[in-house]
Amino acid sequence: MKIVKTTSDLNTKLDGLDRTLGFVPTMGYLHEGHLSLVRKAREENTTVAVSIFANPTQFAPDEDLASYPQDIDRDLELLTGEGVDLVWIPTVETMYPDGYQTWVEMDHLSSILEGSYRPTHFRGVATVVAKLFNAVSPDKAYFGQKDAQQAAVIKKMVRELNFRIEIVVCPIVREPDGVAMSSRNTYLDEEERLAARCLSRGLFLVRDAFQKGERRAEVLKTIVNNEVVHEPLARLQYVSCADLTSLAELENEVQACLISMAVFVGKTRLIDNLILGK
Ligand code: PAJ
Repeated sequence: MKIVKTTSDLNTKLDGLDRTLGFVPTMGYLHEGHLSLVRKAREENTTVAVSIFANPTQFAPDEDLASYPQDIDRDLELLTGEGVDLVWIPTVETMYPDGYQTWVEMDHLSSILEGSYRPTHFRGVATVVAKLFNAVSPDKAYFGQKDAQQAAVIKKMVRELNFRIEIVVCPIVREPDGVAMSSRNTYLDEEERLAARCLSRGLFLVRDAFQKGERRAEVLKTIVNNEVVHEPLARLQYVSCADLTSLAELENEVQACLISMAVFVGKTRLIDNLILGK
């Protein structure tokens, strides 16, 4: 497995690689969720590249960049085990040299839902992913359904900016108790970790209700709300029932939708979601 830091090193190593090239961008501290993307990329491509970069521009000043968990040695060991060909670990200076001024902005999709609570987040995500795409130039790139809006933003960016890259979105990987895997779960203490089950519990109840024929958006959202309200350590920030592509909020009867939510468990902000009717 080749490990590169600078863009010139990256260019040299990319020149020698066989196509097709599958790419998995990450912020590191890898878990089974990340590895599921790597395995999918491994299945579908001759060569697999992964990036590890905790992108500062997608964190607001009051968010957790400084404490974001890191363990590069462990990450590299896991990626070696998955047969990854190339890992790119750029520095902040490489990605954002002094005087950096170029940004990818998206008008509407990046300002609703997650974007309404994290107004600069998707500008940072879209910018860094565009930069990573241009540097790596993959044929296919792999993202997780865990960050549903991020996947929607990236798909739209790829379409609208004419990137010739196929975006593959992979299912959410969960812990045995239902909690969606996330690097941020490491912030939770024992009690909070138990409380974090209320997100997936709510979503699974919604899935059951939908299977039994419930179609009213308000009722589906109330099921999630009720599950979180009864958990003293948790506070619901939002629950949404949205169109699968535009993520526009749906009302009345729904045929297919994305139920998504953000919940504070203690000081940790967790997100989770579920696709219904597809
Ligand atoms: P990060 O949070 O490290 O996640 C990297 C990829 O792993 C994302 O596509 C995310 O959706 C996926 N992922 C995380 N947890 C998952 C789970 N439980 N099941 C399935 N997939 C999961 O997302 C980012 O990094 C950054 O925003 C990035 C795209 C790298 C840009 O900086």
